[in-house]
Amino acid sequence: MQHFALLALLPAALAAPAPVPVPVAAPIAVPGSHYPLITPAPSLTDRDLARLQERGAISSLISDATSDIAGLGTYLSSVIGTYPSYIASGVPNFFQDFPTGSAVEKSLGISDSDLAATPTQVLNIPAYANWTDQGWNLRFRGNVFKQPNISESKLDDLANIFLIGTSIQALPPAQQTQARNLTAEIYVVQQGNVNVSFNLQPVSISGFTGEAGVDANAAPRGGAQNITLIGETTVEGDFDQFIQIANVSGPGGYLLPGNGTTEIQRLSVYTNGTDTGNATAYLVPPAGLTIISDIDDILRITQIYEPANGLLNSFAKAFTPWMNMPEIYANWSRSIPDFHFHYLTTTPEQITRNYMDFIYNYYPEGSFDTRPLNFSDVSDTLSIRKYLLEKVFETYPERKFVLIADTSNSDVMKDYPAMATEFPNQVQCIFLRNTSATDPGDKFPYDTSGFKGLNQNMYMFFLVPDDLSGLDIVNGQCYNSTIPQNVTFSEQGLPVGLSKKSAGGKAMPWSNAVLVAFVMVLGAMFGGL
Ligand SMILES: *[C@@H]1O[C@H](CO)[C@@H](O)[C@H](O)[C@H]1NC(C)=O
Ligand SMILES: *[C@@H]1O[C@H](CO)[C@@H](O)[C@H](O)[C@H]1NC(C)=O
Ligand SMILES: *[C@@H]1O[C@H](CO)[C@@H](O)[C@H](O)[C@H]1NC(C)=O
Ligand SMILES: *[C@@H]1O[C@H](CO)[C@@H](O)[C@H](O)[C@H]1NC(C)=O
Ligand SMILES: *[C@@H]1O[C@H](CO)[C@@H](O)[C@H](O)[C@H]1NC(C)=O
Ligand SMILES: *[C@@H]1O[C@H](CO)[C@@H](O)[C@H](O)[C@H]1NC(C)=O
Ligand SMILES: *[C@@H]1O[C@H](CO)[C@@H](O)[C@H](O)[C@H]1NC(C)=O
Ligand SMILES: *[C@@H]1O[C@H](CO)[C@@H](O)[C@H](O)[C@H]1NC(C)=O
Ligand SMILES: *[C@@H]1O[C@H](CO)[C@@H](O)[C@H](O)[C@H]1NC(C)=O
Ligand SMILES: *[C@@H]1O[C@H](CO)[C@@H](O)[C@H](O)[C@H]1NC(C)=O
Ligand SMILES: *[C@@H]1O[C@H](CO)[C@@H](O)[C@H](O)[C@H]1NC(C)=O
Ligand SMILES: *[C@@H]1O[C@H](CO)[C@@H](O)[C@H](O)[C@H]1NC(C)=O
Repeated sequence: MQHFALLALLPAALAAPAPVPVPVAAPIAVPGSHYPLITPAPSLTDRDLARLQERGAISSLISDATSDIAGLGTYLSSVIGTYPSYIASGVPNFFQDFPTGSAVEKSLGISDSDLAATPTQVLNIPAYANWTDQGWNLRFRGNVFKQPNISESKLDDLANIFLIGTSIQALPPAQQTQARNLTAEIYVVQQGNVNVSFNLQPVSISGFTGEAGVDANAAPRGGAQNITLIGETTVEGDFDQFIQIANVSGPGGYLLPGNGTTEIQRLSVYTNGTDTGNATAYLVPPAGLTIISDIDDILRITQIYEPANGLLNSFAKAFTPWMNMPEIYANWSRSIPDFHFHYLTTTPEQITRNYMDFIYNYYPEGSFDTRPLNFSDVSDTLSIRKYLLEKVFETYPERKFVLIADTSNSDVMKDYPAMATEFPNQVQCIFLRNTSATDPGDKFPYDTSGFKGLNQNMYMFFLVPDDLSGLDIVNGQCYNSTIPQNVTFSEQGLPVGLSKKSAGGKAMPWSNAVLVAFVMVLGAMFGGL
């Protein structure tokens, strides 16, 4: 009954949350030792420092949380076997604490000269442009890195650090390949302080493949030009800036001005000096409808709320669509005129390519957002989704948005309804798949207090993709009245017998209190408390 012993430590930990130094020995991850609230540690050698900072931050959260802790022991003891430190803001914690830069070099034992010999690659994230007084204003966003040559046996060792309760040798071959692929993507060396330039080219077919009214024979429009970013990449190798593009003619004439069309135009964006940085950019007019879609547990099966499955689904198994969601999205793409799809996930930037490949195989084309590397301190990590959402809303002050995700992300539950208040009249619909209602493995509570005061016709908690079919989204019908909602406007989905906390007021929702307690328990397990 080791768990109970650890639980007994909890009150002491809460009362005296002073940072305790942690041995540095662990390379990347002692399984389960990741703190779910935290993003990448700056380097492996900084590990002990990073943990100190985490402890400090956690302590400050705890003072807010202690008043909510009553009853927690009972709850924890019922689920502690099921939940390690996972669930944070919808990202499995094994996707939280990646090494970067020189830490990767050191852990692989590769030299600067080995690295210099490997080609520079660029992650070019499909971006969006808005229409301004000066013309189209295009976002350039991505990361410059090098991929060290890592032997398969070394990759296997590294992959095994991420795999909990199994090993790469025990997986079927296809899963071994996927686990090695992800591991290799995590062990890249970001290239700070480099200049990046692009070549823009018109795309011959305007509009989305399969979309009604697209003339496949239309000549490419204009827009061909070279763009050099202002300044160099950040120390993490990132770039993210808007640049006004010139209005130049092509064989099919000029690009259309944003205020003269409802159509979404596209440009191909090639990164100079590498063939790894190709992407499509979307020129989205000021008025219209955009869907901002999360990916994990809404477009693909992740089950982050079930650690063992979540781990394999994220790290080893091929990404698999959730039920018939692709059909729902395909129908929306066909039936909603000029619908702009924007995929916004808080998964870390390093594994963006796997998410993009999956999305473009099963879902309509669209722009993308993932978690940039510089979002590394606690407040940043907790606020990354909000930051990304606000950026899109601010870029299109006249567009309306459909927001979709599942209930297992505490940040979604807070941020999605908040957008309706912060940007009045810009939120058209909020759709939340209730994973607690359909998946007995999801015992994690979710907070619906943010929905109090919102018109029911504007949001829906749903169970299966078909619940979304036939809704007249364009005209604001976002609620399928045949689907019972069960919304209490408070913390819900708790195990029977544990009282539900009432809505509002608290800086710290109950679920975060649970998280903090998990962190403390794990800290006790692995941190030598
Ligand atoms: C479209 O936008 C441009 C640039 O802001 C402006 O010069 C032009 O008058 C606008 N056209 C219409 C029809 O509003
Ligand atoms: C990677 O290293 C192995 C030896 O460890 C070598 O055989 C292989 O050619 C290298 N690959 C590249 C792309 O450099
Ligand atoms: C990047 O470009 C600027 C301006 O052209 C130049 O001063 C700087 O040296 C370049 N940096 C690198 C690393 O090439
Ligand atoms: C872009 O730069 C390339 C050289 O990198 C050059 O060949 C090409 O003509 C330039 N294109 C435009 C549109 O300026
Ligand atoms: C570009 O300029 C042409 C010619 O003046 C104009 O017809 C067209 O609307 C402009 N397009 C954009 C995107 O500014
Ligand atoms: C593209 O890169 C090459 C070297 O790889 C350089 O000569 C050229 O000037 C670059 N083009 C632009 C538009 O930056
Ligand atoms: C990127 O585009 C270039 C030019 O079309 C092409 O040669 C290259 O194969 C593309 N890279 C990838 C990874 O598709
Ligand atoms: C991993 O697989 C993805 C396709 O899902 C591919 O785009 C990427 O280049 C691969 N990465 C490595 C390091 O092999
Ligand atoms: C275009 O997007 C930028 C970046 O988000 C924003 O600052 C600007 O206000 C937007 N312009 C218009 C006209 O909406
Ligand atoms: C609502 O509650 C009923 C009865 O408990 C349950 O069967 C259903 O799955 C719930 N629906 C949602 C959307 O939570
Ligand atoms: C509502 O949900 C039911 C059950 O999934 C589905 O059959 C129906 O098509 C949905 N749409 C409408 C508008 O009722
Ligand atoms: C998608 O649209 C087709 C054709 O309009 C329709 O038959 C089908 O039922 C729709 N599917 C869903 C899930 O809405």
